[in-house]
This record gives sequence, C-alpha cells and structure tokens, in this order.
Amino acid sequence: MTQGDIWILGATGRVGRAVAAQLVAAGAVPVLVGRDAGRLRKAAADLGLHADAKIVVASGADAMAAEITRQRPAVVVNTIGDYANSAVLLARACMPGGHYLDQANDPTAFHRLFALHDEAIAAGSTLVTGAGFGVAGTEAIVARLCANRPVPSQVRVDAFASVAVEEGVLGAALATSIVDGFAMGGRRYEGGQLVRTRLGGEVHHWTLPDGERMSSVAVPSGELIAAHRVSGALTVSATSGLIPESPAVRAVLPLLSAILRIRAVRTFAIGRMSRIKAKTAPRPRPHTWGHAVITWPDGTVREGWLRTGDAMDFTSAVAAQTALQLTAGKGRPGAHTPAAALGPDLAIAAGADFVDDALPRS
Ligand SMILES: NC(=O)c1ccc[n+]([C@@H]2O[C@H](COP(=O)([O-])OP(=O)(O)OC[C@H]3O[C@@H](n4cnc5c(N)ncnc54)[C@H](OP(=O)(O)O)[C@@H]3O)[C@@H](O)[C@H]2O)c1
Repeated sequence: MTQGDIWILGATGRVGRAVAAQLVAAGAVPVLVGRDAGRLRKAAADLGLHADAKIVVASGADAMAAEITRQRPAVVVNTIGDYANSAVLLARACMPGGHYLDQANDPTAFHRLFALHDEAIAAGSTLVTGAGFGVAGTEAIVARLCANRPVPSQVRVDAFASVAVEEGVLGAALATSIVDGFAMGGRRYEGGQLVRTRLGGEVHHWTLPDGERMSSVAVPSGELIAAHRVSGALTVSATSGLIPESPAVRAVLPLLSAILRIRAVRTFAIGRMSRIKAKTAPRPRPHTWGHAVITWPDGTVREGWLRTGDAMDFTSAVAAQTALQLTAGKGRPGAHTPAAALGPDLAIAAGADFVDDALPRS
C-alpha cells in the first residue's frame, strides 16, 4: 500500500487519531486531513510517521471534498461528525471508484447516504456508514443469526458500550451527535415503516453475560436502521445502555426532545455541551456488549451476544479494518452498513467475539 491510499478526515480528533494508530499498526501510512497544519504534524509525529509524511490541510466538508476530487484517494474515513450534512458531500467526492466510510449513528445520516446506493454501484464505489461500535457491534450478530434462514418477523438489538474517557473537551462533533439524537425523539419499525415512539418509553433491565447489571432505553439510532436492513424484519427496535433509565430522566426526555428541535436551542445546547471538560477515567466495565434477539414467524427465537473490550477501541478497529478491506477491493459497490458490505466477520477482525449460547435475558 502506498501513502495516499487512505485519508483520515478529522485526524486530530479522538476517533481520527485512534483509527490512524490502528492503520499504522497494520502497516499502512494514512494521510492525515484536518484544519490545522501544526496539529496534523504533531498527530503524525505521535504516530511515528516520517517528518515529511503527507498531510492535507482543509477546513470544512466543502474544502475536504474539493481535495478528494482533486487528489483521488482510494479510501476516505470521515470522522468530522455532523454526518447528516457532511456524509453525502464527502461520499460523492469519492466517486467514481473511491470508497468512503464514517461513524454515523443516526437515522437521518443513514438514509441520506443510502440514497446514494445506485449512484455508488454505477461508480464502482463502496460507501459504508456506521463503521463504529453501536452499528457494527449489533448488526454483525443479526447478520450472523439470520444467515441462510428465512426473513424473521421481529428483531431487537441492544448496545452496552463501556468507554474510557480521555481528558479534554467533549467537542462539537460528539455534542452534535448527542443533541440531534435526543432531538429526533423515539423511533422503531412497525410493519416495515419507521414510526415515532415516545423517547424513553421502552426500558429493559439486564444481567449481562459477565454478571454486570445494566438497563437500556430505546433510542433512535443507526443500530435500528442497520438491524432492519440486514434482517428484513418488519418489526425492529433498538436500545442503548448509554441513557440513564431513571423514571425522572425518562419523564423529561420527550420534553427535552421537543425543546432541542428549536434551532436556537439546538445551537446553544451544542455550543455549551461541546465545551464540557472531561477528566480521564478508565472504562466503567470490563466488556462492551452487543445483543440481538431474533424471532421468526414460526415462533423460533435466537439470541446472540457480541463481546469486546473498550467500545472506542472497537470503533476505531472497525473503521481501520473497513478501510483496509475496501483498499484491498473487498467491498460490494453500493451504500451499506459495515457487516452488509464486508460480512459479520468484520467484527471478529476488529477484536470482538460472538457468544451465542443461552445466556441471561432481560
Ligand atoms: N458510531 C460510533 O460508534 C461512534 C463512536 C465514537 C464517535 N462517533 C462519532 O464520530 C464523530 C467524531 O467523534 P470524536 O469523538 O472523534 O470527535 P472529536 O474528537 O471532536 O474529533 C472531530 C475531528 O473532526 C474535526 N472537524 C470537525 N468539524 C470539522 C470541520 N468542519 N472541518 C474540518 N475538521 C473538522 C475536528 O477538528 P479540530 O480538532 O480542528 O476541531 C476533529 O479533528 C462524532 O460525530 C461522534 O459522534 C461515533
């Protein structure tokens, strides 16, 4: 692989730095792309890259798209966030022939990227959205349990991320994802249609396979969309362990959701949240878990778990593995989620394992 094959947009950020490190560990030399030359040079030095390793300085998705169009990298990893607005622009710039991936996890960004499916097939490009824990860590279980079986009637996926906290501010990219997630309100599939539900209306209590006690709340996520697409089931829901399930929190979620849909409030909330300072903290639980329960029309039920360590390590490994496999020409042209593009074994390549025996249920 020559330098220039894989570009990382937002290479000075948390996900960008972690993906770059995984690629370097795998023997690749990624091109770091961001808005500040000094910080890109420092990131390159921290990775042990040569002092004159190529970097690309570009601020904003438009400028990055222009550089992609001009220089034609083989694969672009988009970690700049605000995927509902950045993904289509950047994915289009990769076509024809180049490949694209991101860590989006919201239904709007997913649907906008999937709208490029036919265009990507015609261009011979693979576009992968959701190349991170929540989506890959749940979709892979569903793909595996549904392989060579009829279309199930019902699917539920649950994501329990355990993440170490890095010192620093939260940042606009992550703050935007959190605020827009709450603003969207609840969603689930019924009769094959994405329908509104009360945010926080579905809650489950768990003993995880390693004995940890957790709860999870239904959220409008990329996991939901991926589970629907990969299974074909008409009834699908998705929950996350990241939202507190206390009755007091759940009672205010619908109101919070409505308020955050007001443009000025959204801007204010993103601004305030992005400046929140976090202190270094180890991951709270030893494992990150993905879970799926699949029900078929004949009453058969299968359940699977996926186990990994830190969810951020898994996210960056999924992105790095996806980039490497796309560079090697292994992706199916079109717009996909990770397991749909590259198969459920992508999760194993990213350091997870499947635990399918009968295990504790909520
Ligand atoms: N699906 C998953 O599993 C998963 C997991 C983790 C994160 N995420 C998502 O991934 C995204 C990145 O998260 P993160 O924690 O890495 O955020 P971060 O640390 O804030 O990094 C974002 C990076 O993008 C750059 N950037 C942002 N907007 C830009 C713009 N307009 N032009 C140029 N560069 C820009 C930032 O540059 P500066 O340094 O110059 O600000 C920074 O390098 C977020 O949307 C987050 O929600 C998804």
